[in-house]
Amino acid sequence: MSQASIESVSRESRVFPPQADFARDARVGTRQAYDEMHRRSLEDPDGFWLELARELHWFRAPTQGLDWSGAPHAKWFADGTTNLAYNCLDRHLGPSASGLAGPNKAALIFEGEPGDVQVLTYRQLHREVCRFSNVLGKLGVEKGDRVAIYMGMVPEAVIAMLACARIGAVHTVIFGGFAAEAVRDRVNDAQAKVVVTQDGAWRRGQVVPLKENVDRALAETPGVRHTVVLRRTGNPVAMEPGRDHFWHDVIESVSAKHEAAQLDAEHPLFILYTSGTTGKPKGVLHTTGGYMVGTYATSRYVFDLQPNDTYWCTADVGWVTGHSYIAYGPLANGATCMLYEGAPNHPDPGRFWSIIERHGVSILYTAPTAIRAFVKWGDRYPMAHDLSSLRLLGTVGEPINPEAWMWYRRVIGNERCPIVDTWWQTETGAMMMTPLPGAIATKPGSCCVPFFGVSAKVLREDGTEAGPNEGGLLVVDRPWPSMMRTVWGDDQRFADTYWSRFPGLYFTGDGARRDEDGYFWVMGRVDDVVNVAGHRLGTAEVESALVAHRSVAEAAVVGRPDALKGQALVAFVTVKAGELPTKELKALLLEHVAQEIGKFARPDDIRFTDTLPKTRSGKIMRRLLKEVASGGEVKGDMTTLEDLSVLAKLRADDE
Ligand code: WTA
Repeated sequence: MSQASIESVSRESRVFPPQADFARDARVGTRQAYDEMHRRSLEDPDGFWLELARELHWFRAPTQGLDWSGAPHAKWFADGTTNLAYNCLDRHLGPSASGLAGPNKAALIFEGEPGDVQVLTYRQLHREVCRFSNVLGKLGVEKGDRVAIYMGMVPEAVIAMLACARIGAVHTVIFGGFAAEAVRDRVNDAQAKVVVTQDGAWRRGQVVPLKENVDRALAETPGVRHTVVLRRTGNPVAMEPGRDHFWHDVIESVSAKHEAAQLDAEHPLFILYTSGTTGKPKGVLHTTGGYMVGTYATSRYVFDLQPNDTYWCTADVGWVTGHSYIAYGPLANGATCMLYEGAPNHPDPGRFWSIIERHGVSILYTAPTAIRAFVKWGDRYPMAHDLSSLRLLGTVGEPINPEAWMWYRRVIGNERCPIVDTWWQTETGAMMMTPLPGAIATKPGSCCVPFFGVSAKVLREDGTEAGPNEGGLLVVDRPWPSMMRTVWGDDQRFADTYWSRFPGLYFTGDGARRDEDGYFWVMGRVDDVVNVAGHRLGTAEVESALVAHRSVAEAAVVGRPDALKGQALVAFVTVKAGELPTKELKALLLEHVAQEIGKFARPDDIRFTDTLPKTRSGKIMRRLLKEVASGGEVKGDMTTLEDLSVLAKLRADDE
């Protein structure tokens, strides 16, 4: 790679200051207040974080903040003992410490895909978690043992996670969309003793046969002693006597009393496998105290949680967003959380808006990929519902194209709701860069500024700091409480992947630029950078230009080898409902990119497609498209690909 940095071609210049009425009641209501808190968090990180930590319950209060003596392995609050499930549940049963919760406040509002609704108050959720903690104990699960959770989006998935946290077992949640092989590999890597699953999960009116997949996986997982199977869909399942137990049976025979284990702050909390785009999945390990404080603080300040909020994060519990912002962060704050089981377009593309209307959702946190799907399905679905309960919108998971951001603001937020575009990773545990909705003016497509305690920089290849608007590599240059502690079973990989590119700095793997106001613009994974005739471009920006065209719903741009230019750009484009993928449109789009960015960025080829290959969390798999574009064979790990038929279709279109 040359010394040259990544060229940034985005020219977004719209700015939206926080609305006065929102700012008035917000936890942080001015830019100046943010600046002061942020400065203090960097000048005295131990003091800052210990103060936040004290808002939570500790059996033994920590006196220490960061211990970095074992770098790159951080310890936070190391002399404290606590329990995250206690903080999510028991703490809200007494006189409310947070001012948000109470025993009879709804903790979870669950809506199943078939339409069934179940509400669990904090008292009820506490009771169910205590019972399941006793079930795990009865099955021989001890502190430090691993438990795999392979479920759909049902309350019991959250109950199982909290029960693990309560007894000090380490959970590894495996996304319910994974096939048997992926389950087997993760269960074996984590050496899980128990697998918690369900007969099946509802998805677009169909049953996903979770237990059947577990049965196939368990043929090759020698360490598993027991499974617990929740009845959800009622489809027939095979039950192996002695090994498999129905949830409703085992839960009957246990007490509802359970005392939360007093755990060291550095006790492991969970392992979550993240595949990135290539290679064997990495088991990202998070521990208790720092993760608790990080998710608590970010939920509180970024979502600006207030007592009457109904908060909805649409992520799956199988991803880190579901861990940090469905389960732990919001519950530690005593918030009311919506949980929806199924697909956004079942029975029709208006489902999300109907849920918001019927349950009075006030905060919506979703992903750019979902937003682009809503744009594609058409405005008439959100327009048909009363969305006036919403007061705050959020996104996570990918760079959001400015046009999708504008649509979100206009059609969903009615030009009234602030948008928090939150940048973070499985590895960071909690949000790292984000606007605070009452304090920070937003710019469409920018994740804005670092959260408290976070210091990020954009570097050139040689490690010097990039200038304003100069694209480069995004690093974090000091430790933060919720950072990952290691890769489970592969400490060397932890050091190599994150700490060797720039010694002493955490390398995110993302490209970014920082503008003249100090705002960060993440340009995607650096693996997605292409070099066209000497210009190193983040493909996300070319995609943004394409999506800005009124006919385009979604675009993915990749490079393919080109004798003349080094690399040439190939764009895969899906059009909005009602638009036709014609030759004329192709020509218009090429011209459009040349107009928006410059001739050098004009793709060599545009291919229309119905769908793009995505990971199960909605990230476009550019690696696969790159292989399709270069006409080569598609190789490598595809276990995260959501819909295998997409690839076949793309190749068939190839002529
Ligand atoms: C990308 C999800 C731009 C980024 C929490 C990161 C984003 C990766 C944003 C982590 C955002 C996430 N703007 N890019 N707001 N949020 N990303 O581990 O490339 O599933 O490194 O964690 O998603 O994905 P992960």
